[in-house]
Amino acid sequence: MPPHILDVAHRLVARQLGNPTGLLGAVIAHVLNNGNAPTITAAVAALELAGTETIADVGFGGGLGLELLLKATKGEVHGIEPSPGMISRARRSHPREVSAGRLHLHIGTMDALPLATASLNAWISLNTIYFIADLEPAFADLRRVLEPSGRGVLGVADPVWLGRQPFAKHGFVVRAVDDVVRELADAGFDVEHRTTPASRSTGGGVPYNLLICRPG
Ligand SMILES: C[S@@+](CC[C@H](N)C(=O)[O-])C[C@H]1O[C@@H](n2cnc3c(N)ncnc32)[C@H](O)[C@@H]1O
Repeated sequence: MPPHILDVAHRLVARQLGNPTGLLGAVIAHVLNNGNAPTITAAVAALELAGTETIADVGFGGGLGLELLLKATKGEVHGIEPSPGMISRARRSHPREVSAGRLHLHIGTMDALPLATASLNAWISLNTIYFIADLEPAFADLRRVLEPSGRGVLGVADPVWLGRQPFAKHGFVVRAVDDVVRELADAGFDVEHRTTPASRSTGGGVPYNLLICRPG
């Protein structure tokens, strides 16, 4: 394939990963759910839920995180997404949970979460911060919504691996994990850095990072 066509394709994929939209967005949602299943599953396990918590998935994309959280708690689950297409997809996937008030779907972004202060026992957010230029207001809001004994899990791919992906040069913010940990600490979290095996789509064999965040 001519290099400029490949470049256009990578730009398109990058834009879709940051805001899945339309028909291609539906394909991306499917790819995300399949490719990221091991790391999303590991993030939910790392929450060590008792089964009654109120939990959010911030930037849920294809929605696998919502599905796993609904299985893991009898409490309420919140999904926050800037993509209207991903909100509609999640609503179609879980009509009963939405009408029963178990699943709440919100259009929103990490830096302005449509949730009350200290209203969550837990949250997960995977592969989202690559699309956020300024982490300070985003992490401050993740801290605001978490109750004092709560726990969050932020998932980020290995930055060296991510930086080598051809789509990442089209607008991804690739950060050293230590820098992310420092910004989380500045927002008021005690952070435990764990790794988990990555699938091909989240690290090609290089471990994936789970940053376990507890209010400090
Ligand atoms: C690469 S996908 C990851 C989806 C899912 N968390 C996963 O790991 O499979 C990134 C998602 O983050 C969402 N997103 C982008 N900017 C965001 C922001 N500022 N706040 C919350 N979510 C955001 C996108 O709409 C997209 O669905």
